[in-house]
Amino acid sequence: MPHVVLIPGDGIGPEITQSIQQIFKTAQADIQWVECAAGEGAVATHGSPLPDGTIEAIERHRVALKGPLTTPIGAGFRSINVALRQHFDLFANIRPARTLPGIDTPFRHVGMVLFRENTQGLYIGRETWVQEGIEAESVAVVSRKASERIIKAAFEYAVQHGRKKVSLIHKANILKFTTGLFLEVGKEIAMEYPAIQFEDLIIDNMAMQMVMRPEQFDVIVTTNMFGDILSDLASGLVGGLGVTGAGNLGENAAIFEAVHGSAPDIAGKGLANPLAFLFSAVMMLEHLEQTKTAERIRAAIYTVLQEHKDECTADIGGQGNTLSFTEAICNVLSP
Ligand code: NAI
Repeated sequence: MPHVVLIPGDGIGPEITQSIQQIFKTAQADIQWVECAAGEGAVATHGSPLPDGTIEAIERHRVALKGPLTTPIGAGFRSINVALRQHFDLFANIRPARTLPGIDTPFRHVGMVLFRENTQGLYIGRETWVQEGIEAESVAVVSRKASERIIKAAFEYAVQHGRKKVSLIHKANILKFTTGLFLEVGKEIAMEYPAIQFEDLIIDNMAMQMVMRPEQFDVIVTTNMFGDILSDLASGLVGGLGVTGAGNLGENAAIFEAVHGSAPDIAGKGLANPLAFLFSAVMMLEHLEQTKTAERIRAAIYTVLQEHKDECTADIGGQGNTLSFTEAICNVLSP
């Protein structure tokens, strides 16, 4: 039985984690949870927002499901999410966006998966003042190696999941060296996958196309900042961050996480929607090749969204709470 590190996290984290555990138990998912601490709560219990024991557990078991973590604004510790990405070199951020039944949006045929390069671009944080308060500079880094591994990951995903097309997004007409290199590498790798259709689009055109005709996109791969923006846009097409999951993959570890934050305004009130976290957990099951269980849970989610909308939480138009949603999913899953 695979061991999975479970980090409930802060704010609504423990509530939505409990929901996932209940649903996985009902679905008889073949998983042994190894509960570990991280975030603001871990400072009180372990003296650190990212205890060594948590790092060691992820190193040992290589798969983790992580709830939202509170990052103090201004003073205090740095983002643990960023620290985990860097420590485990989680180079691929994967965000699927799929039209859901019962979620009211004008876009009815969305089924895209976005691969965002997670380690480079403008996010390396290399910024300097040319003249303080007057002019500033920021450095973007794109390497062949990092481009190769994210683009290959996107193509491999397309092959493994029966997807037909990979769209590479860039701004090579202006950023000729950095995103130009990303595009060049993409064209080379595409030659190795003749069965997968390949296209490239400039980011501004992509932003328009995603809103005008989102159904044309299948697998999308792009650099860090474009991916950051487009992945939220993609979530917005299907109902927002409350209904989309995410995974961060590296060579040696995979961490699946809720994309929303710790929602301190509703923490402890039983109102949190576990759906986004549940989708991340379902992605994790697929990563562990427990596809049948993943499909059963996904089908149960669709049934509840379609037939038991009242049991869902208020943020997606229901009249229920965390518990009623969880029980509705478990009722559908129960034999
Ligand atoms: P947030 O995502 O926590 O909340 C924004 C709004 O969405 C709030 O009104 C909240 O009640 C609502 N919301 C979020 N998740 C929800 C859910 N599952 N069900 C129902 N409503 C939900 O963003 P905010 O307020 O900017 O950040 C709060 C804390 O979370 C900060 O410390 C921030 O650093 C952290 N954060 C952590 C992330 C992570 O661990 N991946 C991601 C984003 C923020």
